[in-house]
Amino acid sequence: MVRRPAPLNPPAFARTLPGRFTSRLHDERTASLLGIALGAAVLVSFGTGLVSHFMQQPAAWMRWPSRPVNLYRVTQGVHVIGGLATVPLLLAKLWTVYPRLWQWPPVRSIGHGVQRLLVFVLVGAALFQFVTGVLNIAYWYAFRFFFTTAHYWTAYILVGALLIHIADEGAKARRAVMTRPQDAVGRRAFLLTVAGASAAIAATTVGEAVTPLARLAVLAPRRPGTGPQDVPVNKSAAATGVTAAARDPAWRLTVTGRVAREVSLTLADLRALPQHTARLPIACVEGWSVEADWRGVRLRDVLHLAGTADDARVRVESLERGGRYRASRVDPPHWHDPLTLLALGMNGAPLALDHGYPCRLIAPNRPGVMQTKWVHRLVVS
Ligand code: HEM
Repeated sequence: MVRRPAPLNPPAFARTLPGRFTSRLHDERTASLLGIALGAAVLVSFGTGLVSHFMQQPAAWMRWPSRPVNLYRVTQGVHVIGGLATVPLLLAKLWTVYPRLWQWPPVRSIGHGVQRLLVFVLVGAALFQFVTGVLNIAYWYAFRFFFTTAHYWTAYILVGALLIHIADEGAKARRAVMTRPQDAVGRRAFLLTVAGASAAIAATTVGEAVTPLARLAVLAPRRPGTGPQDVPVNKSAAATGVTAAARDPAWRLTVTGRVAREVSLTLADLRALPQHTARLPIACVEGWSVEADWRGVRLRDVLHLAGTADDARVRVESLERGGRYRASRVDPPHWHDPLTLLALGMNGAPLALDHGYPCRLIAPNRPGVMQTKWVHRLVVS
């Protein structure tokens, strides 16, 4: 029996539309325009994602600056809010090209087979990044793997496949975009709809990072004005099991390691040191960020009490017993910065337990997971 080739046609519902309209939406020009926008968005996501990764896991030679204060807030806000706004582009691009994914025969030669395999890797990696990213910020851990590690390595696969795809299809796409279209009405309406959907998503999430627009952020899982002292928390004291230790009157802050003298300070000792105020954001890896007025002791003042060398590195440890984020590394540019505080208060009130009472780290240009809460030890190396 001879197998009939599968048609390259649009789906049944689309075939009910005027033929010229649907063929225009599945043509090279539409695919190229969407592809260029999507490719640019993926590269921006990759760049901003790498900033987030290397801020949290810097190579030994890396020194992140502590300024500009809002740099991480902007890069991660662009990553997540931009990523969400890119979802309509991805869906539109897939819809435009999917008849080609079903082409027959599926493989015409070895070269063609490799080319098709790469396209499937590209589509699979893109879907994986977007789906896991959105599930992660929605706190829906439907997957068993650790999100950050899988998302990080898939980013390289995605960008590798994208660069090969650009090398392969770039010239064709350029021709398709440069050639003056014969008839553009349907295509223009389609592209405007996609752009409108992206703009609507951006408008209803950007308030998670831009406080004056917080009321519009109906699609954002976290936003300013919510949580204790009007600042959201991801991890509460109860969830981490630190409530008793944080409230214990025997709590001390100790400075130990490569220091001239070990120091142990009570909360009253910390309150007796010079107090400073800094207006700084908590900028979460999940894209939301909120500014607050923090009050407390400069980290560098406490380190100098222990005779810490200027080039030292500091490990700030929480009362948390375990967990990936129970400690964070603070390099010289951050601990010398006068805005880096061990905060005892926030927005004019003592620090709430869920914000890290009795004492937490707050520093400029740093992911929220590294603004260690419930601090009890500084280890200098
Ligand atoms: C275009 C595709 C994307 C690429 C190439 C990409 C790439 C990356 C990279 C390289 C990281 C750093 C991972 C690490 O710290 O090891 C990252 C982090 C992150 N991405 Fe994406 N991403 C993409 C799309 C998205 C989307 C659509 C969302 C959500 C809407 C998202 C949410 C996140 C979150 C929440 C983190 C922080 C993870 C953490 O540190 O806990 N990403 N991304």
